[in-house]
Amino acid sequence: MFNKVADLHKLCFPHKPWSADEFRDLKKSGCEIVASDNGFIVWRTVCDESEIITIGVHPDARGAGIAIAMLGLMEHEIKKAGANKIFLEVSAENMPAINLYKKCGFIQNGRRPKYYDGVDAILMQKDI
Ligand SMILES: CC(C)(COP(=O)(O)OP(=O)(O)OC[C@H]1O[C@@H](n2cnc3c(N)ncnc32)[C@H](O)[C@@H]1OP(=O)(O)O)[C@@H](O)C(=O)NCCC(=O)NCCS
Repeated sequence: MFNKVADLHKLCFPHKPWSADEFRDLKKSGCEIVASDNGFIVWRTVCDESEIITIGVHPDARGAGIAIAMLGLMEHEIKKAGANKIFLEVSAENMPAINLYKKCGFIQNGRRPKYYDGVDAILMQKDI
C-alpha cells in the first residue's frame, strides 16, 4: 500500500515525491491514508479539525471527478469522527487544486508569502 501511494505521489508531484517510508511514518503519526490505483488522499484529524496533508489523482485519470469523490469520502469520515472544520495549504500557482477546493466549498482565509520556493501559499478552510 505504501509503495503504491508513493509511486502515485511521484506522478502527481514529480519535483517533490514522498517515499513509501514517509507515508508509513504519516500513518504511524495518526494520519488517515485512502488510496486506489487512480488517486490518494491523506489527512490528519486533531480534536475537531482536520487537515488535508496531500491529495493527488493519476494524470491519466484527471477530470473525471475522482478528487471531488475523495474529498467527499474524507468529509464523510471526519464528520463521523466529530470534526467540524477542514483546512489546507495550496500553492497560489496551483489553479486546478484551488478550483477544486473552491468547488468543494473551501474559502481562502490567509496567505503565506513565498512559502513554497518563492511561491505564496494560499490557506483555505471549510466548515462542515
Ligand atoms: C488537483 C487534482 C487533485 C484534481 O484532481 P481531478 O480528479 O482531476 O479533479 P476533479 O475531476 O474531481 O475536478 C474537480 C474540479 O477541480 C477543478 N479542476 C480540476 N482540474 C482542473 C484543471 N486542470 N484546471 C482547472 N480546474 C481544474 C475544477 O473546478 C473541477 O470541476 P469541473 O470539472 O466541474 O470544472 C489533480 O489535478 C492532481 O492530482 N494534481 C497534482 C497534485 C496536486 O496538485 N494536488 C493538490 C495539492 S494542494
